[in-house]
Amino acid sequence: MSATLIDGTGIASEVRGEVGETVAEMRAKHGIAPGLAVALIGDDAASAVYVRMKERAAVEAGMASETIRLPADTSQDEALAVVRRLNDDARYHGILVQLPLPAHISEDAVIESINPDKDVDGLHPFNVGLLVAGKPRFIPATPAGIQELLLRSGNDPSGKHVVVCGRSNIVGKPIMNLLMQRKDGANATVTVCHTRTRDLGAMTRQADILIAAVGSPQMITADMVSDGVVVIDVGVNRVDAPERRRGYRLVGDVDFDAVSQKAAAITPVPGGVGPMTIAMLLRNTLNAARRSIHGESRPTA
Ligand code: GUN
Repeated sequence: MSATLIDGTGIASEVRGEVGETVAEMRAKHGIAPGLAVALIGDDAASAVYVRMKERAAVEAGMASETIRLPADTSQDEALAVVRRLNDDARYHGILVQLPLPAHISEDAVIESINPDKDVDGLHPFNVGLLVAGKPRFIPATPAGIQELLLRSGNDPSGKHVVVCGRSNIVGKPIMNLLMQRKDGANATVTVCHTRTRDLGAMTRQADILIAAVGSPQMITADMVSDGVVVIDVGVNRVDAPERRRGYRLVGDVDFDAVSQKAAAITPVPGGVGPMTIAMLLRNTLNAARRSIHGESRPTA
């Protein structure tokens, strides 16, 4: 079998187009542009690229966007003060603090300081709790993007066995909660594997849908999947490529060439999950602005 490519760039562009149309309507009807503030602390090279892409996408969708760039020696108190200022700034409906943060700043403290009504990353414990309770408000952008990719590529997870590799707060845990919900577009049986899972291959071979979010280049090999699996590769790993001008290339957590011989469908890296993360962040920001206009009763998903 040779897999169909799940085109994250194309699907993300559809979602961004839909968001852009609604933003235009909101601006015309209410005179309000959804606003996204992004804080980038430190000099992680990959984070700088992601943040630039987020800001550009927000502006392209007709949103107001500000990026606050702070040096790596920013204190935790200074970081918290920036979040407080953004919480109080009515121009911004959504706030995102790019992770990872420098080691001396507590990610938990910063995330918990964000007003949950502006937490478009969906990482505040209040929003995590709503998702677990089956009443999601802001779903973290990467898991939301994975669900959208599955649905728009004709791979509804309902009744399927989804095996997730990785248990992070940003991908593994929320995608588990999202896809196991009793809800259209979900209703999957979800298994979560992690570093202490015994015989990982025995688990991954059971997957109808395999989601790899381990942060380890090409760790999922062809012997670990069954014929006909649908593979979602969340990994973005830089590996040395001296022949390239920039000195590296991006690979996923899945050995793409070998696994795509067995899979029914697979996301490429780059061009799979990555673009969806940005699109869903914009959708969350739009929903935050909608909630600020219409109040809590309006459905946000
Ligand atoms: N770093 C990598 N992905 C993300 C994300 O989705 N949100 C934030 N805040 N930081 C990230």
